[in-house]
Amino acid sequence: MANSNDGTAQGDLDRERFREVVGHFMTGVTVITTAFDGRDFGMTASAVASLSLDPPMMLVCLNKRSQTQEAVRGRGRFAVNVLAEGQHEVAKQFANPASDKFSGVAVTRGLGDLPLLTEALAVLECQVMTDLVDETHHVFFARVLRATANTGNPLAYYRGTFGHVELDLNDHALALVRRYVVTRQCAVDQVLDFSSLSHALELPHQIVYQALITLVAEGLVTRHSEREFTVTAVDQRTYEQAFRARTAIELGAAELAVGRVSSVRLRELRDRAWATEALVAGGKLVDVDAYIAADAAFHEYLVGLADSDALVAAYRRLSFPDLMASLLRGYAPADAVLSREHLALADAFEAGSIDEVRRAIRIHNEHAHAIGEAAVLAGGGRI
Ligand SMILES: Cc1cc2nc3c(=O)[nH]c(=O)nc-3n(C[C@H](O)[C@H](O)[C@H](O)COP(=O)(O)O)c2cc1C
Repeated sequence: MANSNDGTAQGDLDRERFREVVGHFMTGVTVITTAFDGRDFGMTASAVASLSLDPPMMLVCLNKRSQTQEAVRGRGRFAVNVLAEGQHEVAKQFANPASDKFSGVAVTRGLGDLPLLTEALAVLECQVMTDLVDETHHVFFARVLRATANTGNPLAYYRGTFGHVELDLNDHALALVRRYVVTRQCAVDQVLDFSSLSHALELPHQIVYQALITLVAEGLVTRHSEREFTVTAVDQRTYEQAFRARTAIELGAAELAVGRVSSVRLRELRDRAWATEALVAGGKLVDVDAYIAADAAFHEYLVGLADSDALVAAYRRLSFPDLMASLLRGYAPADAVLSREHLALADAFEAGSIDEVRRAIRIHNEHAHAIGEAAVLAGGGRI
């Protein structure tokens, strides 16, 4: 990456510039603890990495001037306490030279009576194997003797500021809770019990709660009071609305795309259509989950041909794969012609005829709608 202001031309990178640039590398935050000569020591450290799984090794870089570093060398053992989000005050406390860094911090005793931070997200108790030293730091290669973890999110350090990495975890949690809901692992209208849900999905309560709030907005879950949620039934109306919206989005995408799509993308659309056809045998879906995924990949690609983020976002918000998962669970469409209609859609796009594409979109959506309706009816009107 060339940058006239990168200061490297003469190898004269200054300290501030380096700090600014390297700060873009986000890290977790740990407190290295040890005990030596009858005293506890601890310091905040982010120059920490897991080195190998076999043997389980950690690498920790501690400044020569640090007292904790001296104690680690004296003792030959230390613990890496991985801080949880919200523990930035603890990080600050252990980053400042003070006589009693442990004041107000809950401590339990680990192997060799080393102090461990009770509220840490994870703790790795280590034995120093190798100690390398350079001008400013000792680099400790240490074998992990014991490792324990709690549930929660980590504290992050980025560009000199503490933060959190909640988003990815929330996305992961959302995917798990959504799956739980759409595959009806909890019966429709039955109150979702936080404890069992958190336990079953191995997620903290708060994260499950946030996922449920998102699913309320998506129409998959109904909220009755502060903490009372139920799975929303799919009925004719919900289903009808979703299909109408999908038809409109696809017709809109077709208006923008037909006649302008490259041959490479047309081939990809056809490949995706074939991927759905490959999951149908004798008019039956071979693998319902795989079919739903392939179907979603086909339709999202079709919408994406318009190169409009707004249309793709609107399509995703319909949560079509989830809707289909709810409908097709326990219901086998009598004749799975939908995949052949995907191929017809690919033909129409290749022909570059907007009329043909419009027709193919309508036929396919009406057909898929009819199958969904039959599934809802088979489920007694509500699924
Ligand atoms: C986010 C953060 C990360 C740090 N990472 C390290 C590190 O990896 N190695 C290190 O030697 N010092 C690191 N420090 C600085 C030490 O925590 C600090 O020098 C501390 O006062 C040393 O304490 P001690 O002399 O009592 O051992 C970090 C400080 C902060 C705020």
